[in-house]
Amino acid sequence: MADGAVSENVVTTEILGDVALVCIDNPPVNASGHAVRVGLVEAIEALNAAGEAKAIAIWCAGRTFMAGADIREFGKPSKPPALPDVFNVIEGSAIPVVAVMHGTALGGGFELGLCCHARVAIAGSKVGLPEVLIGLLPGAGGTQRLPRLAGIPFALDMSLSGRQVPVEEAAQAGAIDRVVTGEPREVALEMARAVVAGDLPTRRTDQIEAAYDAEALAEAKAAAQAKTPNLVNPGKCVDAIAACNLPLPEGLKVERQCFLDCMETPQRAGLIHAFFGERAVSNIPEAKGPSREVQTVGVIGGGTMGSGIATACLSAGLNVVLVEVAQEGLDRGVATIGKNLDGAVKRGKMSAEKKDAALARLTPELDLDALAEVDLVIEAVFEKMEVKREIFGKLDGICKPGAVLASNTSYLDINEIAAATSRPSDVLGLHFFSPAHVMRLLEIVQGDKTAPEVLATGFALAKTLKKVGVLAQVCDGFIGNRILAHYGLCSGYLVLDGASPQQVDRALEDFGFAMGPYKVSDLAGLDIGWMTRKRKAGDRDPAERYAGDIPDRICEQGWFGRKTGKGYYLYDAGAPVPNPEVAEIIEAVRAEKGITPRDFTDQEIVDRYMTAMIVEAARVVEDGTAKRPLDVDMVFLFGYGFPRFRGGPLHYADTLGAAEIVARIERYAEEDPHYWQVPDILRRMAAEGTSFADLNKA
Ligand code: 3HC
Repeated sequence: MADGAVSENVVTTEILGDVALVCIDNPPVNASGHAVRVGLVEAIEALNAAGEAKAIAIWCAGRTFMAGADIREFGKPSKPPALPDVFNVIEGSAIPVVAVMHGTALGGGFELGLCCHARVAIAGSKVGLPEVLIGLLPGAGGTQRLPRLAGIPFALDMSLSGRQVPVEEAAQAGAIDRVVTGEPREVALEMARAVVAGDLPTRRTDQIEAAYDAEALAEAKAAAQAKTPNLVNPGKCVDAIAACNLPLPEGLKVERQCFLDCMETPQRAGLIHAFFGERAVSNIPEAKGPSREVQTVGVIGGGTMGSGIATACLSAGLNVVLVEVAQEGLDRGVATIGKNLDGAVKRGKMSAEKKDAALARLTPELDLDALAEVDLVIEAVFEKMEVKREIFGKLDGICKPGAVLASNTSYLDINEIAAATSRPSDVLGLHFFSPAHVMRLLEIVQGDKTAPEVLATGFALAKTLKKVGVLAQVCDGFIGNRILAHYGLCSGYLVLDGASPQQVDRALEDFGFAMGPYKVSDLAGLDIGWMTRKRKAGDRDPAERYAGDIPDRICEQGWFGRKTGKGYYLYDAGAPVPNPEVAEIIEAVRAEKGITPRDFTDQEIVDRYMTAMIVEAARVVEDGTAKRPLDVDMVFLFGYGFPRFRGGPLHYADTLGAAEIVARIERYAEEDPHYWQVPDILRRMAAEGTSFADLNKA
């Protein structure tokens, strides 16, 4: 229910003889918004006042037991009763209460189970404490009641990993009393009667002492610090669990304080923006209309990208026809797909049987004619317009009517590609990110003539592949690579002017990026950027400061990064170390250009780099390449290793404010007015005092 508005029907009570069933019905996931909290307290108090029922069972209607607190209420003034108070009322009920969990009992939902006097779960369902993933910690008794029921190590594992635990495993640990089969309401009735009959024992967590485990707590605290140095909530979570040796009311007070401390952090806001953003990107009319059925996908090109796309499709249960021009390339593609799938088996993501079934759905072919019957084609060949146009012209004559024709191009004009066919309405861009079977981003690029149904098919495919589909309009580089091209220049300038690639990497890794830009370039292959620079050499604006001399010279040596063992770093043995010859190249280039290197603090590096990213991201929103700021944010979270806890570049921009960003750009522009220009949208926002979040809501 929106914003936790009170509705009378979200919690209802049924009296059946000497037992009472309390049902929560708050679609879609029974989150404990204000109405649910009020309803639960009223129901338990009324039943205790009446004193007729001998047992109460709480169950939920719909697809799942309560999935936690209503996250939409966070960051707004809270309306009493707070969830911990509700659960204290339930635990304090003189009439024993049993929870019957089904689906996914998460966060406050699992904590509702924990405060009851007995916990029953329907086989196959899961419980979890995912608060850690949204910058919080279990704040409705989880850190106190779970260690009492199942021990400190299990409580640490659940609340620090956020993983969804099968109820069978939770039962073994002692967190669940019984796992049964059946429908939630029937099970609720049966279990309430079992409590009355004494067949289901009850216990109150305030009467259980947790076996203290100082060593496990100390280890967990150190691990949290090492693994997520930018996040405060994992450490606070350990602090809260450490209070479980206090009497329950005292422990709950410590937990509350830790929870409220986390609630105030920007990381909580960033992570929740990421949670809702992931869902909002496809919550648009373009994604929702009727789509075409896709069972068989044709993939053209067996290189890294094509093989990755084929792997993603096969893993999702689709049939794939893989086409390459020569037997050798085809064999290589099939081998890469096999390796990718083996990797999934090794990492426990796929069973060996599923892998065999996936490979059986793969048909390798040497002729485009083999694509006559496929439902959707994804072309993933060399980035050359003439090559793509030739292929699409041929596909036009080969593919069945209604087949969707997609290009995986990362920057070329989809309209020009579509114009090579007689059916441009069937053509769109499906831009995957490497490795395509791992990275979750899929840019869905709309051409001028792309039919709504074809666009919706792109979104449906993203869902099938468990990817995050983001709508983008045609431009050089679409959303992500266009922004990357701009801030990539900024890191080039930082190095030209005095920073080392290693300092840039370190500063941005400390900021939260999984990898700094120079490590990423080494991994992706320096030749890719080199090719792009050569392609764009003719279009370069003479007023633009060229930042490519250093990487050009590195590439001229034949050093393309990891794949050649040498790039900005050396990869001979063990951990990568800075390549000293690159330092010489940098010095030489600076000398030739007459640049006297200056010192940059890590903070200045982050500020300039992030400002550059925000500038182009703002332009992408301004000219409609991205539908909303949140679409840009999701592109960066799911395709570019942007730190999730910062929510994305434009969510981060809001934490600075448009006025501060404009002031920075104007300051930097004093040195380089060509590169540093204030986009109109930012100037307007600064003047009006508005934010990107406002545009997300518009
Ligand atoms: N609060 C508010 N809305 C929620 C929500 C929550 N806790 N959980 C899910 N939703 C919304 C989603 O935004 C989505 O809305 P939309 O249809 O408008 O986009 C809708 O419910 C359905 O969610 P999904 O699309 O994610 O549906 P799935 O079936 O794929 O997944 C789920 C269901 C596993 C429950 C998943 O939604 C989920 O993981 N939810 C978050 C659970 C969570 O983090 N709970 C902890 C909350 S914090 C807490 O409890 C604090 C406490 O300790 C005090």
